[in-house]
Amino acid sequence: MHLLLIGGGGREHAMAWKLAQSASVTRISVAPGNPGMQLENKVHCIDIDSNDIEALAVFASTHHVHLSIVGPEAPLVGGIVDLFKERNLRIFGPSAQAAQLEGSKAFAKDFMARNNIPTASYATFTNADEAIAYIHQHGAPIVIKADGLAAGKGVVVAFDTTQAIEAIQSMFDGQFGEAGSQVVIEQFLEGEEASFIVVVSGRQCLALATSQDHKARDVGDLGPNTGGMGAYSPAPVVTATVHEHVMSDIVQPTINALADEGMPFTGYLYVGLMIDSKHNASVVEFNVRLGDPETQPLMMRMQSDLLALLDHAVDESLEQADVQWHEGAAIGVVLAAGNYPEGSSKGAAITGIEEAETNGCKVFHAGTCLNNDTLVTNGGRVLCATAIGSTLEQAKATADKAASCIQWEGVRYRSDIGHRAIK
Ligand code: AMP
Ligand code: GLY
Repeated sequence: MHLLLIGGGGREHAMAWKLAQSASVTRISVAPGNPGMQLENKVHCIDIDSNDIEALAVFASTHHVHLSIVGPEAPLVGGIVDLFKERNLRIFGPSAQAAQLEGSKAFAKDFMARNNIPTASYATFTNADEAIAYIHQHGAPIVIKADGLAAGKGVVVAFDTTQAIEAIQSMFDGQFGEAGSQVVIEQFLEGEEASFIVVVSGRQCLALATSQDHKARDVGDLGPNTGGMGAYSPAPVVTATVHEHVMSDIVQPTINALADEGMPFTGYLYVGLMIDSKHNASVVEFNVRLGDPETQPLMMRMQSDLLALLDHAVDESLEQADVQWHEGAAIGVVLAAGNYPEGSSKGAAITGIEEAETNGCKVFHAGTCLNNDTLVTNGGRVLCATAIGSTLEQAKATADKAASCIQWEGVRYRSDIGHRAIK
């Protein structure tokens, strides 16, 4: 079977690596992919942009693709699933309408409010003066979010009103373009975050293993918010009781409401949770795709066939799916450019990947490219050193050692990924 995988980051590299292990898969075309993926068995990178949904549909049709799988949110929000379905092409992901759960924070908050899904209280603004008045009224800490897609960078957790007002001003001044023309201001939630990802097929769903991401750039959870500096699975904060509550009070009501409101969901639903000291969970965000870098450890822990799971979701037979996980733990440590997340310096030569992989670690590529035959950096998050072990400590030791082998000018990574679970 020929698959089309859309995207070119670390998440997609891990998905391609896992899908290539399915006996039924003969070829995986990745649009546009990256140099790391190109080295995987069965994987071929194709020169189509992940947002060129017309060209992707033509490719899937011409090459008789069995299933197309979408990695990033932008093509989903841009309507790739709707277009493929119009043309009778099999694809795994939500419609553009359902993808608004991620595409617009105001849409997601209004959806949660009218369906009684637990989440922080909020207000939405299209005008800086009114937003600033609200800040003065509510004080800090408070959370400011650009409404639209901002590659994980459109959120500021402000610990004083000055910082909150600066965030409002820069968003309305166009820091995130159109995405910041509407701003959501939210109550600050205290607790521990976890990523709870489910495969959804209409009113049916199946939870993947839990995971936890590290959004702050620096050791000790300090520094600016990023797309994610590392992740591990499982997340012990999601106890069996929390898991049950999340399924019954958040996930099932969400997917039922999506169906009731005429936008039934198929695809990965990523529920970003905040779990407080009393073990109550509320929703920090919805994403309509797998997390990056959560996918890297998740794919490493998944022992069953990923394609079979996705086929069941698309065929509305999720009750027949069987998902098995490695009983230990997996962890991914992101290696990022020195000026990430403000910038993404490019073109530095990367060394040490082979050495990093000698101790059982897998290095997934994200922002890399080839300059002649030299592998160089090409983005903010460059690589993710991912390892599995019978305990998180073991997995972490392997991943940390691997990360220390990899060099380029300005490389940075966090040495404390997993610290919450290793106490
Ligand atoms: P989001 O893109 O909405 O997930 O926000 C990015 C990050 O900002 C989250 O992973 C949290 O670390 C933080 N954050 C977002 N909303 C809140 C909130 N209401 N309270 C506390 N932290 C938040
Ligand atoms: N790691 C967070 C995300 O993918 O949104």
